[in-house]
Amino acid sequence: MRYTTAGESHGRALVTIVTDVPAGILLDGARIDADLARRQGGYGRGGRMKIETDRATILSGVRFGRTIGTPVALTIGNRDWDNWTDVMSVWGDPVESARVTAPRPGHADLAGIQKTGSRDVRDILERASARETAARVAAGALGKALLRELGVSVSSYVSRIGDVALDPAFDVSQVDVAAVEASDVRCPDETVASRMRAAIDDARDAGESLGGVFVVTVSGLVPGLGSYAQADRRLDARLGAAVLSIPAIKGVEFGDGFALAGTAGSLAHDAIRYEAGLGYVRDTNHAGGLEGGMTNGETLVVRAAMKPIPTLMTPLASVDIDSHDAVDASRERSDVCAVPAAAVVAEAEVALVLATAYMEKFGGDAVCDMKVALAAYADRLST
Ligand SMILES: Cc1cc2nc3c(=O)[nH]c(=O)nc-3n(C[C@H](O)[C@H](O)[C@H](O)COP(=O)(O)O)c2cc1C
Repeated sequence: MRYTTAGESHGRALVTIVTDVPAGILLDGARIDADLARRQGGYGRGGRMKIETDRATILSGVRFGRTIGTPVALTIGNRDWDNWTDVMSVWGDPVESARVTAPRPGHADLAGIQKTGSRDVRDILERASARETAARVAAGALGKALLRELGVSVSSYVSRIGDVALDPAFDVSQVDVAAVEASDVRCPDETVASRMRAAIDDARDAGESLGGVFVVTVSGLVPGLGSYAQADRRLDARLGAAVLSIPAIKGVEFGDGFALAGTAGSLAHDAIRYEAGLGYVRDTNHAGGLEGGMTNGETLVVRAAMKPIPTLMTPLASVDIDSHDAVDASRERSDVCAVPAAAVVAEAEVALVLATAYMEKFGGDAVCDMKVALAAYADRLST
């Protein structure tokens, strides 16, 4: 499953086209919109997200609630567009007074105008803005729906915001998904969650921003998705690229990740035993569900680090691109912290990679055939 998105942050709408979609995926429009709402929510989001109530409109590829094997096109309207019709007009002359000339450190602004020759940072920021990730969440909902049919579920939680973190000994396998979904910082421990909210409040009061760490987990995966045989088939690489494609994500690890580098081999790897009726069993999951570029049948654990939001209400130093005078970096309406939202975007990215890996292994054009092939595979593994 591949997707392309189009659309500017304050343009008329976002558009996603998802191709290579198997026929027969059962979709639920309410679930797609629920994921869009999960991305919009979260403590620390800015005023913009209060304006938008994202709804996906499906234009093609679906009849009577099921995909028909053709490209799926979706749009999400930008309600804020009504306030931006002059500045974002397709035709006519630019509004000179609305030009943005003070690039923000940490954003795409400066490198973007250098790359394109534009004299208006808005030409860059409108697309570099993470508003685009709403379109990815809509695409990811298709991947999630396919995975659901194959017995796989994707979830996420936040383990750190700024310097407030869950206990490092927190057991990923014990996450209470309902508690996470009820938390506006997506943190399973309410005591830590309230400290996270306080940290976000302090950051907002100081004109600051915060980053953090989130974890995506996927259960119900069969072993053998991905491949050890070619570099670009390794699932680690594909998942890593997908998660790193999310704006502001600067590090990804699988399982115990970086900590494994300082751990003796005998403690780093997950011993294998066999239990009649269950098959191969691991009592630990340091590998995070990946060995040799493939799933190994354990829960996939992907952890990612998000840097602090670049737009600061107490701005860093910048330079006016016309005069080259020292100025404060520009300010846009902005989030103080978007780690919970980024976790939802990462669910979508991970789901699309895994859905594609299932299609590669079990045939990719019809869900009914995939289910038959998957059942035969499970049968073979159990004997
Ligand atoms: C869900 C989400 C929301 C974000 N919201 C903002 C925001 O409100 N303001 C901002 O300056 N950056 C925001 N960012 C981060 C920028 O999009 C990102 O830092 C920028 O595009 C530069 O890319 P880079 O950080 O990967 O270098 C957000 C990122 C995500 C994933």
